[in-house]
Amino acid sequence: MANVTFSSPKLAKDITVYAIAGDRGTILNLAKANKVPIPFDCQDGECGSCLVEVTHLSPTTKNAIALTEKEKELLKQLGKITKEEIYDAEVNDMPPRYRLACQCFVRHEDIIVSFEGDDTVP
Ligand code: FES
Repeated sequence: MANVTFSSPKLAKDITVYAIAGDRGTILNLAKANKVPIPFDCQDGECGSCLVEVTHLSPTTKNAIALTEKEKELLKQLGKITKEEIYDAEVNDMPPRYRLACQCFVRHEDIIVSFEGDDTVP
């Protein structure tokens, strides 16, 4: 089961999407396919526009957390990930709090994806 709930001040109410195997892809792709307005730009892990907070609803489920070098570097630059979180992700499969929606793949688990919207973008 993979219910992905999108939550944001930009949305009138939360949107929950059931992501089936095969059309999962990244959180950003799933959002776009369901008209959820997560801001994005490069779609390649370089700009940080698509920063989201991911809450895992079954924290006991371990899913090898794949952070690309790009995602790690950018999250570090944005001050959104600590060394400890990187270690936990790589060694203990513990998900960090913030992810880049264009780099984070939807897994076989329920999550809440929160984003602020683009108020800070001129
Ligand atoms: Fe640029 Fe995701 S859209 S980092």
